[in-house]
Amino acid sequence: FLRPDLVACTFSGSVAISVAVSAPTRFLVLNALDLSVNRTSIRFQALEPTEVVFFKDDGVLVLGFAKQLPLGEGLLKMDFNGILNDQMRGFYRSKYQYKGKERNMAVTQFESVDARRCFPCWDEPAFKAKFKLTLEVPSELVALSNMPVANATFAGPIKTVHYQESPPMSTYLVAIVVGLFEYVEGMTTKGTRVRVYTQIGKSNQGKFALDV
Ligand SMILES: *[C@@H]1O[C@H](CO)[C@@H](O)[C@H](O)[C@H]1NC(C)=O
Ligand SMILES: *[C@@H]1O[C@H](CO)[C@@H](O)[C@H](O)[C@H]1NC(C)=O
Repeated sequence: FLRPDLVACTFSGSVAISVAVSAPTRFLVLNALDLSVNRTSIRFQALEPTEVVFFKDDGVLVLGFAKQLPLGEGLLKMDFNGILNDQMRGFYRSKYQYKGKERNMAVTQFESVDARRCFPCWDEPAFKAKFKLTLEVPSELVALSNMPVANATFAGPIKTVHYQESPPMSTYLVAIVVGLFEYVEGMTTKGTRVRVYTQIGKSNQGKFALDV
């Protein structure tokens, strides 16, 4: 779950990661970088970690528990905050013009190891997982992700968009774009719908990309 704030250029989010503990251990070691993780929100099943240590140079987060973790599958949950950065990696802010005014869009670029700047995860290409994203964004904005929308609920100025579960894939392939867009659309000869999204008023410039 991610809630970007395109005015303040921040985001908040939460993860629930299904983790299979296959050997006795007291630790969970994953990736997180430039995220402010709410320590009191961290749970593996009902267990709270007794140690939470960030190794910034390695982009690693170590959770230490008082006792060995139960073997088998469990759910690791935590809440976190981040900044929509200007570094064009992770979850970042890009700018565009709309009706003569500058607006922000929120964009991801994770390849190869920057998903950890957006959400705590096992940010290794070989560790594939199914992703089920939910975005909470202003109702008037377009919110795109890898998968088709499963459903969306509107609460006044805010909408919550749930996406279908992805096939197993690497973290670096997760993609999110939130902003004001229009699109041109076509079908491949095999019947796959393809869209090219552009700034409002610029979809003509997407036609060549669509043909290619
Ligand atoms: C951190 O998480 C705890 C437990 O979920 C919650 O009670 C608390 O309000 C959160 N703190 C912040 C600063 O969001
Ligand atoms: C909306 O879609 C999500 C993701 O597939 C699903 O978990 C949730 O139950 C759906 N909610 C409704 C009201 O259909």
